[in-house]
Amino acid sequence: MFLLAPSILSADFTRLGAEVTDVIASGADWIHFDVMDNHYVPNLTVGPMVCAALRPLTEATIDVHLMVKPVDRLIPEFGKAGANLISFHPEATDHVDRSLSLIREQGCQAGLVFNPATPLSYLDYVMDKVDLILLMGVNPGFGGQAFIPATLGKLREARVRIDAHARETGRTIRLQIDGGVKPDNIATIARAGADTFVAGSAIYGARRAEDAHGYDTVVGAF
Ligand code: DX5
Ligand code: ZN
Repeated sequence: MFLLAPSILSADFTRLGAEVTDVIASGADWIHFDVMDNHYVPNLTVGPMVCAALRPLTEATIDVHLMVKPVDRLIPEFGKAGANLISFHPEATDHVDRSLSLIREQGCQAGLVFNPATPLSYLDYVMDKVDLILLMGVNPGFGGQAFIPATLGKLREARVRIDAHARETGRTIRLQIDGGVKPDNIATIARAGADTFVAGSAIYGARRAEDAHGYDTVVGAF
């Protein structure tokens, strides 16, 4: 099943609650929650307090993408704030296996995120602790960047790993793509193996006049 996860990075923060409930009412599946620390990435966004404030507004999965270093201290905080899934970049922690276990201990699903130049070999010994693999289609830090085409080959490689793991264990791992996803490239990205699509500017930046009460046209375009 394909899932669409709008990134609130591009939402109108003066009315964030409505931006979340509107996009879910229009048919989106998850809320993608980008956490940036002005250290691991050159931008600063929001933390667990904002996640906790949004939690009562929706039953949709809150998919927390940590772009922070260090990682571990924030994991229990996001668990308490109601995150359903927490993903992090392996270069941002000294102990990838420990951070994955810490996420599971909060009752959350765990994801590993790969920048354009980060090798998939980080997965070699931890596939059994990963519920989602997130490939960045851009360098992390900002919305509205262009999709890097080399990501398509990397998606195909990740899909091979996921399918082999499913054959061995019967366990399904989601393959998520984040950055530069638009209605006009999503089919190509899906053919390369992605099943979970983050889109920020293409959703929140594209609300149409006819969608005064939601994002029906924009979400429908995906
Ligand atoms: C980038 C963030 C993305 C961002 C994507 O570092 O992780 O989630 O919101 O934005 P678009 O869809 O505009 O590329
Ligand atoms: Zn993200």
